[in-house]
Amino acid sequence: MAEQTSTVDPAKGGPSRIPSGTGRTGRMEAVRPGVPRVRWWRRPWVAPLAVVAFAFLAFSLPPYLSLDPSLSRVPPPEGFAAYHPLLVAHILFGAVAMITCCLQIWPWFRQRHPAVHRLAGRVYVLGGVLPAGALGLVIGAFSPFGPMARVSNVILAALWLAFTVAGFRTARQRRFTDHRRWMIRSFALTMSIITNRIWGAIAAIILVPQLDTAFGGSETALVQAIAGLATWLGWTTSLLLAEWWLERGDAARRRRRTAVGTRPRLSA
Ligand code: HEM
Repeated sequence: MAEQTSTVDPAKGGPSRIPSGTGRTGRMEAVRPGVPRVRWWRRPWVAPLAVVAFAFLAFSLPPYLSLDPSLSRVPPPEGFAAYHPLLVAHILFGAVAMITCCLQIWPWFRQRHPAVHRLAGRVYVLGGVLPAGALGLVIGAFSPFGPMARVSNVILAALWLAFTVAGFRTARQRRFTDHRRWMIRSFALTMSIITNRIWGAIAAIILVPQLDTAFGGSETALVQAIAGLATWLGWTTSLLLAEWWLERGDAARRRRRTAVGTRPRLSA
């Protein structure tokens, strides 16, 4: 039986009682009794996250919008003529995933606009992650940045697709606790393209001065080392952070349950 949870219904201006996890007919997220609802502007991560995502897109997209391969930051692998169009398509679908993902992860928006949340969720999955991930698998397997980057890209693309499909299926099955968990993992991988660039900059700062010592003067070896580190660290650290976030929430819920269970009962 569904657990009953108190929610604040803004349409009625007061609290109402609906089953927790209600998705198609009611609020996506219930507010627990006794836990004050945190307003969106008091959640410090929502606005900075959107700013970082838009800054990334504003920097990354322009060279690809012209469809001119000579402006690409990724050298096309030899003998693969379709590489550039596939890369551009991957980037455009990736941008759809990134923008919708910022909207989806915003608790205030999910609570206030559950119908738009469901629509944007379909766009995220069908118009973002599925095409971008499938294209990521192909271009990832032919990455010009060497074997370490190829293996990482293919594993990342496969996990991105798998987590997102699991999140979509669990939403369709109205298993909203599982849906939330899979989509947080999917979100972490979508955003890992940004952490990838941060790790790339750190790796470049550390490794470029070692070109002649650690890499024997080989620029190819240096670039492959930087790209390999950036792609592996980008998604593994994001995913670890997501798992820590989920575990932290579970631990807090367990503590609350234990506290309720051990509270002395008042006899009638
Ligand atoms: C999470 C799964 C993703 C995978 C597996 C993936 C895979 C790839 C691959 C293989 C490349 C070619 C470079 C290389 O060989 O390393 C690439 C480039 C690129 N991807 Fe993705 N990607 C993912 C997500 C995203 C997302 C969400 C975006 C957001 C727009 C994005 C934007 C880009 C851009 C802009 C480039 C061109 C490189 C540059 O200009 O710096 N990717 N991606």
